[in-house]
Amino acid sequence: MPVVLGKAPGKVILFGEHAVVFGRPAIAIPVTKVNASARIFPNLQGQPGQIHIQAKAIGLDADLEDLDDDHPLAKAIQITLSAVAPHHIPALTIQVDSSIPVAGGMGSSAAVSVAIIRALSAFLGRSLSPEAISELAFEVEKLHHGTPSGIDNNVIAHQKPVYFIKNQPIRFLQIDQPTHWVLGDTGEKTPTRDTVSAVRALHVMDPPHYENVFDQIGTLTDRAQTALKAGDLGELGWLMNENQRFLEQLNVSSPRLEALIQAARGAGATGAKLSGGGRGGNIIALAKPENVGVVEQAIIKAGAVHTITTKLAEGGLS
Ligand code: MEV
Repeated sequence: MPVVLGKAPGKVILFGEHAVVFGRPAIAIPVTKVNASARIFPNLQGQPGQIHIQAKAIGLDADLEDLDDDHPLAKAIQITLSAVAPHHIPALTIQVDSSIPVAGGMGSSAAVSVAIIRALSAFLGRSLSPEAISELAFEVEKLHHGTPSGIDNNVIAHQKPVYFIKNQPIRFLQIDQPTHWVLGDTGEKTPTRDTVSAVRALHVMDPPHYENVFDQIGTLTDRAQTALKAGDLGELGWLMNENQRFLEQLNVSSPRLEALIQAARGAGATGAKLSGGGRGGNIIALAKPENVGVVEQAIIKAGAVHTITTKLAEGGLS
């Protein structure tokens, strides 16, 4: 049996995080400069059915049967086995690696699940479609986040820019004009589960007020869809800054995020906001093509531990 490699990119949310959990639209793009991978190879010394998992980054080196059922990697494997229902499982080893920052708002958990599901289904001779992979990864996301919207597993499994509304068919974004984005990592790590439940607690205290905030974020996201297609930097930047204002009202921003956002805007970014769960993780800034390096330097000077630049263009990302 040959070695099989499954890969999955990171992601970044451009508009609509948190509101998407409450049924409003959000826009996300894959980030292909970072990725998770699962390499599967036969274990010639093992017993049939024996599945061994190695994930150096989290110090894991164990057999599947020794992991709790609610361990996210075990869940990704079990759920794939149920979907594929192989007649025979040869002894195999799964090596998991990822260059996606953990708890940084870049979809590392969904990417690891997608990579495992993609590789294992292919190894067992039944490659799954992106839709099927996304659905299975969503089940694992529930372990991580409790009440995920499903945007992360969708954008990562399909590897395309998406306009997403929970429980509705996914729509892929058409991009006519390229745009340039700079991500800056605060180095602060806050699990998405924590910020999602904090926003839920706010909503419970004053539903009409927060429904209104979510509506306004949804309106910005709808406008962004058209602006993104046309590459309208002025409009997109304004929409990002407005979206950030609402995220601050949801109390998911942080002083470090705001320092990076101010630095990016000060260096000429047409807009900047936090991206993902917030209270740490990454900011995303929109830069004019000639200004990408300057914005990147400004974010680093303001304390970013890591930056990634990405170009969104017709036919994909680079
Ligand atoms: C996380 O990438 C985005 C959130 O909106 C949570 C979710 O959509 O599940 C914060």
